[in-house]
Amino acid sequence: MINIIGLGPGQFDYITKLGEKLIYTSDVLIGGKRNLESIENFHGEKIVLSTNLEEIVNYLKENMRKNISVIASGDPSIYGIGKYLSNNIDHEHLNIVSGISSLQYIFSKIYVDMNDVYLTSSHGKIPDFDYILSHKKVCMVTDNKIGPHEICKEIQGRNLDKVIVVGENLSYANERITIGKAEEILSVEKFDMSVVVILDEK
Ligand SMILES: C[S@@+](CC[C@H](N)C(=O)[O-])C[C@H]1O[C@@H](n2cnc3c(N)ncnc32)[C@H](O)[C@@H]1O
Repeated sequence: MINIIGLGPGQFDYITKLGEKLIYTSDVLIGGKRNLESIENFHGEKIVLSTNLEEIVNYLKENMRKNISVIASGDPSIYGIGKYLSNNIDHEHLNIVSGISSLQYIFSKIYVDMNDVYLTSSHGKIPDFDYILSHKKVCMVTDNKIGPHEICKEIQGRNLDKVIVVGENLSYANERITIGKAEEILSVEKFDMSVVVILDEK
């Protein structure tokens, strides 16, 4: 069986009990370098996942008899490896174990419900900001090309009255949550890995 396990936003306490149990009973762990390093005292084989997706799928297909867990940050079904593996491996061999997404985590920290939220990503694409900013409540995962500053410039360019929340390094000791209008967010020099929530001002 191939498990795809969501690790939660980062700090190991947020992983589900089921995810933890499956990880430590696996023969092989596959995941990004940072995620693999977060799993301590694992004595099986570890394989680093980066841009080698096709190679990993071939490995999984050839090793179905092994107990393999692919680990992913947050929830694997939210802008994660879940989509690619679900599209490329027979579902009878796959067991996806949800984790707490960074997008869920940030809402709990700002006491805002997630009802009717529009979830999106700026990863590796030019987002359609007219469409995104037409929503009352948005949450975005970002990358180092389009992050909080670029999003705020798009908001300013349309003269929109939005409140922006930037959640950096969520669940880690250096977590920082910054809330403000576009100009306030733009006055912060630099943001680390972050999710961005955009809310209509009440
Ligand atoms: C490829 S996406 C993976 C999202 C993940 N599947 C989830 O459910 O959280 C990676 C992006 O998620 C966001 N992210 C993931 N973990 C984060 C954390 N602990 N703090 C802030 N942002 C995080 C960042 O925008 C990062 O660039």
